[in-house]
Amino acid sequence: MEQRVREGYKGSGPGPITPDGCAVELYERLPVGEEPDIIAGAVRPASSILELGAGTGRMTHPLVHRGFAVTAVDESPQMLERISGAGTVRSAIEELTLDARFDVVLLASFLVHAAGPGVRDGILATCRRHVKDDGCVLIQREAPGRHDGLPAERRVDGGLIRVVSSEPVRPGVRSVHVEYDFADARWTQTFLSCPLTDEAFDAALAGAGLAVDRYLTADRTWVRVVPRDN
Ligand SMILES: C[S@@+](CC[C@H](N)C(=O)[O-])C[C@H]1O[C@@H](n2cnc3c(N)ncnc32)[C@H](O)[C@@H]1O
Repeated sequence: MEQRVREGYKGSGPGPITPDGCAVELYERLPVGEEPDIIAGAVRPASSILELGAGTGRMTHPLVHRGFAVTAVDESPQMLERISGAGTVRSAIEELTLDARFDVVLLASFLVHAAGPGVRDGILATCRRHVKDDGCVLIQREAPGRHDGLPAERRVDGGLIRVVSSEPVRPGVRSVHVEYDFADARWTQTFLSCPLTDEAFDAALAGAGLAVDRYLTADRTWVRVVPRDN
């Protein structure tokens, strides 16, 4: 599988950069937040989890430590080789076709906002194709107002993340530029984001045979989704 470059996505800084502009060495050092707790609180113990866009395993490893059986998918081999304790599959999410179905499909990191012809629909179809009929899909959405009030900064262990700008590039698509400053290294990423109203989100889910079960967080960024015919 050749390393593709995703149009409108790019990154800079030390080490390998993924087709969507993520820096592998950056993701190796970014701390995990409350995501594993949110996920663990929404699913049955010891569930099988298919994690889409797993990166270096920032969420994978805490989930494995909590007793989940995780299969991690990413199109970047350099990301996947940092993962231990989980199965790994190198694939574009939208092209994934595994024989197995999972109790839980995890679509975090705002990948539901991905741009590109057919990409979001393809990603949601992958979620439906791989979730058991009595299982669920956990999706992380952008918070309302995420593209407003920029630039915005937040500190992480040893570094500063600065969302510099978010500019419309065509109808429904924004180009977002982020800088990551650490004492010993600096990375940037430019990526595309398609903001989704609740109505557009519900319609995209319905098109894939999925529907909202419930929101998991007060800010409505985490949502539990189920097969529609359930
Ligand atoms: C922002 S990083 C997040 C990684 C991980 N979820 C985390 O939170 O640390 C996004 C990851 O998804 C992968 N990715 C993005 N779009 C993808 C796609 N369409 N198919 C496969 N992998 C994808 C990238 O290679 C990258 O490793």
